[in-house]
Amino acid sequence: MRHRHLHEENRKSWNTATRAHNSHKKDQAGFLRGGGSTLFPEELELLGSIEGSKLVHLQCNAGQDSLSLAALGADVTGVDISDEAIDFARKLSNDSGIAANFVRADVYDWLAEADPQSFDAVFCSYGALCWLSDLEVWAQGVAGVLRPGGRFVCIDFHPFSMVFDEHFEIAYPYFAGGHPLTWDGGVGDYVGMAGDALAPSGFVEGEDKFQNPYPVHEFQWGAAEVLRVLIDTGMTIEVTREYPYSNGAKLFEDLVEIEGHRFTRPEGKPNLPLMWSVVARRQK
Ligand SMILES: C[S@@+](CC[C@H](N)C(=O)[O-])C[C@H]1O[C@@H](n2cnc3c(N)ncnc32)[C@H](O)[C@@H]1O
Repeated sequence: MRHRHLHEENRKSWNTATRAHNSHKKDQAGFLRGGGSTLFPEELELLGSIEGSKLVHLQCNAGQDSLSLAALGADVTGVDISDEAIDFARKLSNDSGIAANFVRADVYDWLAEADPQSFDAVFCSYGALCWLSDLEVWAQGVAGVLRPGGRFVCIDFHPFSMVFDEHFEIAYPYFAGGHPLTWDGGVGDYVGMAGDALAPSGFVEGEDKFQNPYPVHEFQWGAAEVLRVLIDTGMTIEVTREYPYSNGAKLFEDLVEIEGHRFTRPEGKPNLPLMWSVVARRQK
């Protein structure tokens, strides 16, 4: 696999950051047990009815969204490279009483080893695509685990928004072909910075002054590159959308919060695509 050693460095960075992120979220088990959901309307609409379907949530982090999907009646498997995230997800499943299967694995290893054609849906969201070091292998793996007629559903931050630094200056190339971009400061405590927006169960102070000692490596892919690898597997793109706001994440200093824990550009400033989504269907 391309850049396995960088994935392993990412694992350490995510382990540390996930601990900090969860320190800000109040009684997550009670929230889910009481019928709470961490999902946004956009992914619910894209997924449609998932009751009774077999769904894998790739890069599921600490499992809050996976358990929210399971609560809708899906048979959910969550996969993530982070030990801390998967340990937390298993405990959250136990404590909330919502059943799901969680696997700690590099997404590439899991896709290579999973039973072919065994899932109705593959889902990933919000900060998933930028950790993939080889798009072709990933797309072949996604198509491979879907049963004929099954769907890949993804909603993520728009790759164009990744060209800006936090002050909204153009700082990074759009066409990077997956070339690794290293952040010495590692995965940050964006949950602590987002306040209520990323803590639907309630925000608590938690860990303050978080510093991540582990660097992290991202891989920038353009929108057309993602669509191309999916099309190349033989899947049909059924839906693709762009959104002028981002759910839960204040990507730049000058974004303002609007209804529904969304962040957008201030009134009077030109809008930008901040998220996008794709639904692709495996043919017979
Ligand atoms: C921003 S989080 C995604 C959060 C997710 N949308 C959720 O439901 O909470 C990105 C996740 O990707 C995981 N990840 C990064 N590289 C990975 C890899 N090679 N294999 C599996 N998971 C990976 C990280 O551990 C992290 O949990």
